[in-house]
Amino acid sequence: MADKHNVMFVCLGNICRSPMAEAVFKEVIKQRGIADKWYAESSGTGGWHVGCSPDQRTMAVLKKNNIEYQHTAQQLVKDDFHRFDFIFGMDNSNISEINRRKPKGSKAEVFLLGSFDPKGETIIQDPYYDSDNLGFEKCYIQCWKSCNAFLDKYNK
Ligand code: 4NP
Repeated sequence: MADKHNVMFVCLGNICRSPMAEAVFKEVIKQRGIADKWYAESSGTGGWHVGCSPDQRTMAVLKKNNIEYQHTAQQLVKDDFHRFDFIFGMDNSNISEINRRKPKGSKAEVFLLGSFDPKGETIIQDPYYDSDNLGFEKCYIQCWKSCNAFLDKYNK
């Protein structure tokens, strides 16, 4: 971790969007041959699902795209602001909560993951209460585009 660029993906529950983003990011760095330079985790601002596996719909979309992934939900903690160089939120509510908790002098830069979307689709909507998979499919595509655009800019 010390010699890598460290990125943390954050949503509300850490069972739908941020695990998707973490899994996609790890796949992208693997495909680009830069996995040795980057370290990624995900977490939630809320703690209700700590210890749980990702939502089945997140896992189904990853599987459909041939991405293997395992995760146990965790909550964003203060130390993360010192451990990570980049902290990405999925929506504006995540960003407000991340910035509210950010200690003074922490090194982490906080961004909406979608701020890197080439088409300017900045918000990755919460799909948890949806009755179908569509929001998860869309989340996957948004994560894929934004992770790639972020790496185009920041992978040095
Ligand atoms: P996520 O989705 O933030 O993308 O993991 C949610 C998961 C759980 C809840 C809300 C959003 N919840 O209220 O339990």
